[in-house]
Amino acid sequence: MAREAEVSRILVFGGTGYIGKHIVRASISLGHPTCIYARPTGPQTGPSNLNLRLEFRSVGINIIEGELEEHEKIVAALKQVDIVISALAYPQVLDQLKIIDAIIAAGNIKRFVPSDFGSEEDKITPLPPFEEFLEKKRKIRRAIEAASIPFTFITANCFAAYFVNLLLHPHNPHDEIVVYGDGEANAVLNYEEDIGKYTIKVANDPRACNRVVTYRPKSNIISQHQLISLWEEKTGRSFKRVCVPEEDLVKLSQTLPPPENIPVSILHSIFVKGDLMSYEIKEDDLEASRMYPEMQFTTIDQLLDIFLTDPPEPARAAFE
Ligand SMILES: NC(=O)c1ccc[n+]([C@@H]2O[C@H](COP(=O)([O-])OP(=O)(O)OC[C@H]3O[C@@H](n4cnc5c(N)ncnc54)[C@H](OP(=O)(O)O)[C@@H]3O)[C@@H](O)[C@H]2O)c1
Repeated sequence: MAREAEVSRILVFGGTGYIGKHIVRASISLGHPTCIYARPTGPQTGPSNLNLRLEFRSVGINIIEGELEEHEKIVAALKQVDIVISALAYPQVLDQLKIIDAIIAAGNIKRFVPSDFGSEEDKITPLPPFEEFLEKKRKIRRAIEAASIPFTFITANCFAAYFVNLLLHPHNPHDEIVVYGDGEANAVLNYEEDIGKYTIKVANDPRACNRVVTYRPKSNIISQHQLISLWEEKTGRSFKRVCVPEEDLVKLSQTLPPPENIPVSILHSIFVKGDLMSYEIKEDDLEASRMYPEMQFTTIDQLLDIFLTDPPEPARAAFE
């Protein structure tokens, strides 16, 4: 007999994380029975993680507590769902091999979305520290393909609130704003809530099976100078733009110890080389705003209005 309403059941790894929580909230608000696989809480669990778990439980999200090493527990969790989305933190990217093993053992998963959510790793070649970072994500993609697990790979580009916080410091406005390179390269900034929503849509969409989906709405393509000018218009302030030349970023990527050499290499890729816009999206490629014309991405203009009225908290100090 068909399961009630045929709504897919979704399991999220990393669901308590920066982007994971938006994916989980979108999943439940789009009507999917949703669970997360999360580490057991303990003295190391921060208050925001604990509060999220309370929020999730209050809306009926099932929290399965376990470690990534607990194969049988993961297999049992997978057998209860149809779709698996991983939003694990970057240091845990290769741990997704354990999820892949469990998906193979469970044998019932209709779609796996691994923890990509950034630059299109199969199309760019950034400075070595970021290249090594992306190579781990490529390894996961290749393992999924080799195991013939149905997948969707998501190129979400920049998390918008994360990068607006980083570039403009709206919480702690300075008179100066740093510009990486000449500030003219175009980047793509997508609001985290939208990334959550579109991720649930594409994970369920037959058109996105075994495909890469890029989130590149036209209204979200912007250069650093354009972003600063828009912020100046909105705040009525004027900022001194302090340029960090490309050579300085390259040098830092060579001299800083790992992992501190990764953020500067990411800044170089996105804002100096313009890697996010360095390849064309062709007619038969999948791009989220084209796939769902009835939905609207939050524009950068709207995002800056949100920063004026109810600014999203900075994620953490990875780039500071
Ligand atoms: N496009 C962009 O602008 C951008 C920016 C940042 C990140 N990203 C990408 O987005 C993805 C998710 O990153 P994020 O920043 O959202 O992640 P995050 O918040 O740092 O962490 C996500 C979750 O990973 C789990 N985790 C952390 N340490 C762990 C450990 N030692 N063992 C097992 N699980 C652990 C935690 O879940 P539990 O506590 O529930 O176990 C945590 O909530 C990554 O692929 C990252 O590269 C993209």
